[in-house]
Order: sequence, then C-alpha cells, then structure tokens
Amino acid sequence: MSKKLYVKTYGCQMNVYDSERMADVLAPLGYSPTDKPADADMVILNTCHIREKAADKVFSELGRLRAHKNQKAKDGGTMVLAVAGCVAQAEGAEILRRAPFVDIVLGPQTYHRLPEMVARAARAGGSVLDTEFPVEPKFDSLPEPSYQGSSAFLSIQEGCDKFCTFCVVPYTRGAEYSRTAQAVLDEAKIMMAKGAIEFTLLGQNVNAYHGDGPDGKPWSLARLIRELVEKVGITRLRYTTSHPRDVDDDLIAAHGAYPQLMPFLHLPVQSGSDRILEAMNRRHDRAFYLDLAEKFKKARPDLALSSDFIVGFPGETEQDFEQSLDLIRQCGFVQTYSFKYSPRPGTPAEGMAEQVPEEVKEDRLIRLQTLLNDQTKRFNKAMVGTVLPVLLDRPGRHPGQRTGRSPYMQPVHVENAEAWANKVAPIRITKVHPNSLAGTLEPS
Ligand code: SAH
Ligand code: SF4
Ligand code: F3S
Repeated sequence: MSKKLYVKTYGCQMNVYDSERMADVLAPLGYSPTDKPADADMVILNTCHIREKAADKVFSELGRLRAHKNQKAKDGGTMVLAVAGCVAQAEGAEILRRAPFVDIVLGPQTYHRLPEMVARAARAGGSVLDTEFPVEPKFDSLPEPSYQGSSAFLSIQEGCDKFCTFCVVPYTRGAEYSRTAQAVLDEAKIMMAKGAIEFTLLGQNVNAYHGDGPDGKPWSLARLIRELVEKVGITRLRYTTSHPRDVDDDLIAAHGAYPQLMPFLHLPVQSGSDRILEAMNRRHDRAFYLDLAEKFKKARPDLALSSDFIVGFPGETEQDFEQSLDLIRQCGFVQTYSFKYSPRPGTPAEGMAEQVPEEVKEDRLIRLQTLLNDQTKRFNKAMVGTVLPVLLDRPGRHPGQRTGRSPYMQPVHVENAEAWANKVAPIRITKVHPNSLAGTLEPS
C-alpha cells in the first residue's frame, strides 16, 4: 500500500541533501512524498542546531505535529514521527523527554538504517534513539539517488575537525570524512543521466576534501573538480562551504582553468578582527584572508565573493566590529549571511566572559546588513545590460515565466521562456528588483 512521507528541512544544504536521501531510503517501504503533514503516515523533521532559534523551532513544530498525530489515531490510522539531523544528534534524549510522542530520533550519520528503525518502532510501540557515529559510512549503504531537476546537490565530504569555538558542527556531524572519488563520480553520472546540469558539491568543509582516488592516492577538491569537468563532462559547477585554511594553490588555479566553475565563491570569514578570529579559533587572520581573496580574483577576474559573519562574539568591541565592516568594503563581498552570536551548549565560547548584550548585537547586525545591502544592490545594478548564462531550473510565478540562477546565484525571472526550461539560457538583464533580477532571452 502506498504511504505518504512528509519531510521538513531546516538548516544548511547538507540537510537538504540528507532529506532527499532519507526519502530515497524509505521509498522501497512504499513511502512517497507529500507536502501536507496532516495526510502523512510518516513525518521527518530534519533539524538544525547551529543557533538557538533554529533549535527552538523544532519543539514548536513538534507541538503542532502532535495534534496531527492524535487526529490520525482518532481516525484509526497511525503517524510515525521522526526527528533527524543536528538537534537530534545533540539533544536526542532531551527530545524524547520533552516530546515522548516522538517515535524515532536519529542523527545525521545513521539514516541509512531508517527502515530498520521504522520496523523497530512499530514492533516495540516505543521510541527508537539512534545517534551513534557508526563505523560503516552511511554513504556506502544508500540506494541510488532518485534525483529530479536540473540543479543538483552532491555531498562529497562531511563533518569538521576545525572546532571553531562558537560552532556545534564538529559535535553534531562528527569527524571529517570524505567519500571516495569513485563514489562521487558515479553519483554525478547517475544524476546527469537523470537531467542534472548544474552541480553543487557539498561539505561542511568541502575544500578539506581528501577522498581516496581510483589511482590509490588521496584526491584534493581541485583534482576531483578536474575529473568532473574533463571526464564526466559537467558544464556548471559550484562547491560550498569552504574554509580559508583549506584553500590550496591548485584550487585557486582551477578557477582560472575551468570556466565551468561558476565565478562565485562562498568563503566564510566570520570577523575582520584578528583578536576575534583568534578567540574564534579560526586558524587564519585578516591578512591571510585578504591574500586569498586577491589570489582568487587574479585567477578569475570576474569572481565575486560571498561570506559569513558573526556579530557580537564574546569580547567583540566596537573597534573589532568596525574591522568587520572594513573587511566587507575591502573584499567587496556581494552577499553575506550574518548572524548574532548565539551561545551553543558545550562549545568553548558559551562559557566565555564578556558576552555581548543583545541590543549591541542587534545594532551591529543592522549596521552590517545595511552596508552589505548597499554592496549587493550596487553589484546587482551593474548586471543591467549584461548577458548572463542562467539555468532556468524552476517555473516562474505565472504561466510562461521561468526562474533560474545567474552564475552569481542571483534569482533571475524571464518571460516567455518555457522552451528553455531546465536549460542554460543567455539572458540579457533588464531590471533589478530588491531580491532578484529580470531579463529577456537574448537571440543567439
Ligand atoms: N563550515 C562553515 C559554516 C558552517 S555553519 C564554515 O566554516 O564557515 C554556517 C554559519 O553559521 C557559520 O559560518 C557561522 O557564521 C554561523 N554560525 C555558526 N555557529 C554560530 C553561532 N553559535 N552563533 C551564530 N552564528 C553561528
Ligand atoms: Fe563550524 Fe568552524 Fe567547522 Fe565551519 S569550520 S563547521 S564554523 S567548526
Ligand atoms: Fe545546522 Fe547541522 Fe547544517 S547544525 S547548519 S543542519 S550541519
């Protein structure tokens, strides 16, 4: 009998990828996706623990789902409720204590065992908790991806050994792990055969990639990119998220050598102050970052940089903060994700003295975002009149319209573009909206 699966995803792109893979794992059990939780026979919340707000959302969502589950039981049905992802990993036991109606709690490293957990939950009638870091890597036990669409995520690396003092990822995702190059190449070929044109290689620290190569040597990210472009034939490629410390010369050179690599790089810096970077245990200083930015732009002059910033890290003074603003100007970031520092349980920064008051964090966040918005606007305006290759991977808001991403990840809307669905179209940019661009098909 066909059963319905509803998956809600929070957090980063790794979680988006994991959610798709969980659906793949459950498909042989008869589960097909639905977007209505009330109809679902199974609900998975794939959670994020990165900031307090993200984690809190899970408990309020669980409250809502409990009502659906009760209704379903009244109607004589059942709903299996599972919490996956990083909150599950960090607070598994706490979830079962606060929400005993949850059937399954599983960490990011165990979802290949989901069918077994579903069976165990049904048999035992109680809750199943599986937040181990198993010896057998999950990637080796996953079914072929049931991929759809033209823009694909492909996980190549997971976990992190950097231990930035503010961050939970090394605890929730575990130690750094790279898939073998062959596994990545095989998965890319499968996805390509199913229609993928653009690939985003994913990892919490994607440029730390060091998977075993088919030649018996460890391959770097640059080596893997070479194979994906030259042998597999990928024509549009991105990777995220990189750590400045793990950038090597080959990776910079790849940006000069391969036009297939999109000229847009997300390279989080977190702060512009050396004092704060040190307290964050980022293992690089401002000068090191600036030098990298320059090298990337030298290799690929049209490259634009994006970054992440945290404001109000413990001990951050007004002067430290102004150095972040200064770095934003100096690097000319065209996009950033910026966050108020959120103390996370078990991380070194949580217990640091000199926590910054909330209103100071709020004020700094607004100032940083105002500066950044100006730079983004200027960058977007400069696109008007240019022709960009846009992968029109989504239907637009009305018939005939398609939407896609520019090489710089800007959403672009195009009218009368149905014929270019899921293709890379030459688009002349005509207008700038607050969060997107509009353009017309350029006759070729
Ligand atoms: N691996 C990536 C980022 C992972 S987390 C890197 O090294 O940059 C994504 C972003 O969340 C981080 O870049 C950081 O800016 C933010 N972040 C992580 N922990 C945070 C915390 N405790 N408070 C606020 N923002 C945080
Ligand atoms: Fe977190 Fe730092 Fe690792 Fe990024 S590099 S995942 S910020 S510990
Ligand atoms: Fe969040 Fe886990 Fe990703 S904490 S950002 S879902 S790695």
